[in-house]
Amino acid sequence: MIVLTLAEVAQLTGGELHGAADDGAAVTGAVTLDSRSVGRGDLFVAVAGERVDGHDFLGAAAEAGAVAALATRPHDALPCVVVADPVAALGRLAAGVHDRLVASGLITLAITGSSGKTSTKDLLGQVLAAAGPTVSPPGSYNNDIGLPLTVLSADAGTRFLVLEMGSRGVGHIARLCRVARPRIGVVLNVGSAHLGEFGSPEGIAQAKGELVEALPDDGTAVLNADDGRVVGMAPRTRARVVTTGQRDDADVRATGVTLDDAARARFTLVAAGEEHAVALQVVGVHQVANALSAAGAALAAGMTPADVAAALSAAGPRSRWRMEVERRPDGVTIVNDAYNANPESMRAALAALAGLTGTRRIAVLGPMAELGPDAAAEHERLGRDAAAGVDLLVAVGADAVGIADGASAAGRRAGEESVHVPDRAAARELLGQLLRPGDVVLVKASRSYGLELLAADLLTAGASADRARADGDTA
Ligand SMILES: Nc1ncnc2c1ncn2[C@@H]1O[C@H](COP(=O)(O)OP(=O)(O)OP(=O)(O)O)[C@@H](O)[C@H]1O
Ligand SMILES: [Mg+2]
Repeated sequence: MIVLTLAEVAQLTGGELHGAADDGAAVTGAVTLDSRSVGRGDLFVAVAGERVDGHDFLGAAAEAGAVAALATRPHDALPCVVVADPVAALGRLAAGVHDRLVASGLITLAITGSSGKTSTKDLLGQVLAAAGPTVSPPGSYNNDIGLPLTVLSADAGTRFLVLEMGSRGVGHIARLCRVARPRIGVVLNVGSAHLGEFGSPEGIAQAKGELVEALPDDGTAVLNADDGRVVGMAPRTRARVVTTGQRDDADVRATGVTLDDAARARFTLVAAGEEHAVALQVVGVHQVANALSAAGAALAAGMTPADVAAALSAAGPRSRWRMEVERRPDGVTIVNDAYNANPESMRAALAALAGLTGTRRIAVLGPMAELGPDAAAEHERLGRDAAAGVDLLVAVGADAVGIADGASAAGRRAGEESVHVPDRAAARELLGQLLRPGDVVLVKASRSYGLELLAADLLTAGASADRARADGDTA
């Protein structure tokens, strides 16, 4: 965060400063919404959430060292910049700071798409870090709160700012682009995440394309040529277009893609008339598309193809619960991909499972949320498609029953190879009995179903099973 006086905070947010003895006092720390993480010199933003209201923690924030707060009303404990809507004010503050940082040379890159935003951001952040100081925090931070907080974590020394932009409706990405107008915009894919809210894939394409509409003349739109709806956004931008993908006519492409026995891709990166070998550390063939998008953006930011290829090959996983592959001491491998799920990301994860070496492949799949009226049919289709590639499919939760039905309809023996269990506890018990050394288990569902906890339980169950064996306990 750059240092801002309270007067500047008031000016940038359009708020009114109350309770400051000295309006030259400055925010010298971070901007934060969580009173528990406030440090000296921070600006505390009081936001009313579903369960707690930040305004109840203004005293605690002051005690922890906050220099001021952004709030809807003044408080005795500390100076407050009073605004009608602290989240909107946070956006205005970030926009003001972003303008200053751009004027001093910051390059902002933004990524959107239905699946793979965080994975691509994490690759791109690591690639750009090889070229200069980069802000690209782990996790999603892709909404009206997370994005401005990310912007505000940059400072005058930051060369590259990598932002993730999420969208649940028309106008959302346009709004995020008003907070931090990117120079380089990456669109990954148009799938069915949040189809329920958007109504149709065309609606999703309309919304995701707001990113390329916001790019300046001297900017670059990095579009995935393997997705017709994405490359179809080209006429919507004034910026130069760079295409990425497996197609021969893509500007940045991958040839000779192979997977090692840990399902990590190797390929030749072809760009700007050069060819360089890449060996990814992250898991799943879907990461090739993400890596190409990251490469297109890093090249647009001025890196050489050789440096991009080397940095891609060194980049590891950064954010939790995305294809986290861990091996238990007893030889069972758990793949925790439980961060989120939609039909495309389920298929990407199942393809990665198929590429992992193991004796039995087991998919433990929970429901996919927010799919709208087609939800039941989508679950069944997924189960049918999954059936061929797995030895056992366990569908977890009432909303996932269609996955088990689909797998059974596609020939998996119901109750043996295709099993439905009501909840996490039942899944844990079943797998506790079933798992054998050499098994590879994929755990995935939409975020709200908390299957990352099941994945964690399965990992520790393996550790205790191993300890029990070491103790000679055969019960
Ligand atoms: N390019 C891709 N195509 C399809 N599926 C993908 C792709 N990249 C990642 N995935 C899958 O999607 C899951 C979520 O990935 P990631 O967190 O990167 O997506 P996201 O777009 O940031 O999601 P969210 O909207 O929840 O923030 C991964 O765990 C993986 O299973
Ligand atoms: Mg994300």
